[in-house]
Amino acid sequence: MTSTPATSSAAGASVLHVGGASPYDVVVGAGVTDRLAAMLGSSVQRIAFLYAGRLGEIAQPVVDALRADYDVLALGLPDGEAAKTAATANDCWEALGAAGFTRSDAVVTFGGGATTDLGGFVAASWLRGVRVVHVPTTLLAMVDAAVGGKTGINTGAGKNLVGAFHEPAGVLCDLALLETLPRAELVAGLGEVVKCGFIADPEILRLVEATEPEALTPGSVVLRELVERAIQVKIDVVVDDLKETGGADGHPGREALNYGHTLAHAIERAEDYAIRHGEAVAIGCVFVAELAGRVGRLAPDVVARHHTAFARVGLPTSYDGADFDELHAAMRVDKKARGSQLRFVVLDDLARPSVLAGPSEDDLRAAYDVITGGPR
Ligand code: GLY
Repeated sequence: MTSTPATSSAAGASVLHVGGASPYDVVVGAGVTDRLAAMLGSSVQRIAFLYAGRLGEIAQPVVDALRADYDVLALGLPDGEAAKTAATANDCWEALGAAGFTRSDAVVTFGGGATTDLGGFVAASWLRGVRVVHVPTTLLAMVDAAVGGKTGINTGAGKNLVGAFHEPAGVLCDLALLETLPRAELVAGLGEVVKCGFIADPEILRLVEATEPEALTPGSVVLRELVERAIQVKIDVVVDDLKETGGADGHPGREALNYGHTLAHAIERAEDYAIRHGEAVAIGCVFVAELAGRVGRLAPDVVARHHTAFARVGLPTSYDGADFDELHAAMRVDKKARGSQLRFVVLDDLARPSVLAGPSEDDLRAAYDVITGGPR
């Protein structure tokens, strides 16, 4: 797996290429939203512009610019996970139907990960698939949700249980959009970035450890490098294993991206999704590092580095909001679980992810005790 972004640079932007059966580019840089029309192409007539409703003011100039070239149907979506419902998807399908959307038309998403997930799913399902270009507006969506073609909505039984793999025609990561992102959201996005450092690109960890956290600002060279490196990690993984069927030579494949996510999803559920995903991922990664250390898979210094690297950027590394039994029950419905056996992505070393199946309840409890600061 490569760890250096394979970029080509044009006018201050970096272009990261995603290979595979449906290749596309991820463009990173300040102001790259201007490239939307070039990325959509001239064969498209109508655009469904699906945007996070709270971003109306920021979205309006983008819509106005698109109207010079296309018929634009702008649809504001509910905020956050509230957008990822069958009802919202249905509202979008009805609007596309009323506007006479055809296979040669396209969807543009503009918002965080919930918007790209919902909009991607609408694009995947309308006429069995139309083009979609994502313009993620949060750090989390830039380094995770917008790249790799996972789309979906939630049901009463859990997150992302209905969806499709539908790769975008392109992704524009406009770093200028991060200027308006609340600091806590930016820090939460760094949770996924640091995770990428542990699973594939330790240079990310070195950069985080060598940089004053306050210097990780949207306009900084170092944040841009972190974004590019994290996206490259994701690209390398999805090009090898788009549909999460497994990797080669013992590598878990795309499942590796879920490092720390088994406990993270359980915590998010216990907190009724009031905790930010990236914060829960930081806690989940520390937990699973402790678990891997306890079963002899991960050296103590790498376990300790989990605590310091996530804390360095301002992320939580401990949690005492729910008891172990509640989280244990929630982890059993994780998508990685097989039958009654829990499975965790763990590290055997830095950048060496693998799977730990069926750890003992004692080991799980002991790892949980460490992050809660003692037995509960
Ligand atoms: N967010 C994990 C994945 O894209 O596979």
